[in-house]
Amino acid sequence: MAAPLFLDGLTVHTQSHDYPIVITENAAANGSMAQQIMPHITGRQVLIVTNDTVAPLYLKALEEELACQYRVEVCTLADGEQYKNQTSINQIYDVLMAQHFNRDVTLIALGGGVVGDMTGFAAASFMRGVNFIQIPTTLLSQVDSSVGGKTGINHAQGKNMIGAFWQPQMVLADMSTLKTLPPRELSAGLAEVIKYALIMDIKFLDWLEINLPAMMALDLAVLGEAVKRCCQYKADIVAQDERESGVRALLNFGHTFGHVIETHEGYGNWLHGEAVAAGMVQAAELSEKIGWLTSEEVARVKRVLVLANLPIAPPSIEVQTALSLMGHDKKVKHGQIRLILLKSLGDAVLTTDFEPSLLTDVLGQHVVKS
Ligand code: NAD
Ligand code: GLY
Repeated sequence: MAAPLFLDGLTVHTQSHDYPIVITENAAANGSMAQQIMPHITGRQVLIVTNDTVAPLYLKALEEELACQYRVEVCTLADGEQYKNQTSINQIYDVLMAQHFNRDVTLIALGGGVVGDMTGFAAASFMRGVNFIQIPTTLLSQVDSSVGGKTGINHAQGKNMIGAFWQPQMVLADMSTLKTLPPRELSAGLAEVIKYALIMDIKFLDWLEINLPAMMALDLAVLGEAVKRCCQYKADIVAQDERESGVRALLNFGHTFGHVIETHEGYGNWLHGEAVAAGMVQAAELSEKIGWLTSEEVARVKRVLVLANLPIAPPSIEVQTALSLMGHDKKVKHGQIRLILLKSLGDAVLTTDFEPSLLTDVLGQHVVKS
């Protein structure tokens, strides 16, 4: 049995409750996943929600360990962003109802951001709210989606349009689970890691430029350090603004552009992190057009994304189509598109302070004329 080489963590402070993020390794392999989450399970009923890719990898040990002390059921969803919808949520409700589970149930999300967002939303809405725990198994979910309580599903016309704020009881990030993650998914997670550097901390950008190769080579200690830093950035923001009435919006840097790509190309065709990467470049380019970033700084943004094997240009999307999709963004206020742009590297703002023609220019750059 392999012992964890490191065990680290931090606390997220929110208005509803504080909760721990535990960052470790080998928990899945040595059976300690269950031990670590048990103190955060209050009742005797547990529903593990996972998908058909993650279940064969990590479900058995967790389920068996928990079954010694709890009544455990499993809901295995189809894998994919295209299944992040009401049908999958109904599948979770169906198991909860069929098992006569009640308010004592704890839901456990075992998987990436899609499983985590849906499990959280089911927990937020079942019997008007039950507890849930996040066990994120992708880099993206470890650095971002498992923390901060945004839960939900997609609508055909817009990403993450239906959802709730609902905080987990704990987050357990086992870095060893990244060993089975496809490299393309690891890169998608790196997009959100790079995002924190671009919006909050230029020193972290320096650190990433040195350490990205080690992260891509699956050095778990370096990945663990990055996860801890990102979770701390996010925890600090969530503590100030849990419901996104202000500073939390900055975490959506690149996302308004990215959501256009994801929605237009069909959910699952561009990975969320890939769309965010191309979207961050578009946001940086608009920041340059306004005069906030230099062309060398935009080139630096592109270089770090290329280092992480990420796309730096969107697919061809007609400008009017892109603007219309942007119109569904949750940050639109009084009909005006608000964007997160960079005043400088490491310093982001939510703003309407741009000429619409500059946005149109940026959106038009990659449109292929037929
Ligand atoms: P995902 O959940 O689709 O996981 C990516 C792929 O990796 C899937 O095929 C999954 O089955 C597989 N997988 C997961 N863990 C694995 C492992 N350890 N080994 C092998 N395969 C594994 O995608 P994601 O990138 O984790 O999350 C993206 C989702 O997160 C999007 O829906 C996005 O909107 C959401 N998101 C939410 C927030 C939030 O604050 N709630 C923040 C960012 C992103
Ligand atoms: N991923 C953006 C947020 O949690 O606010």
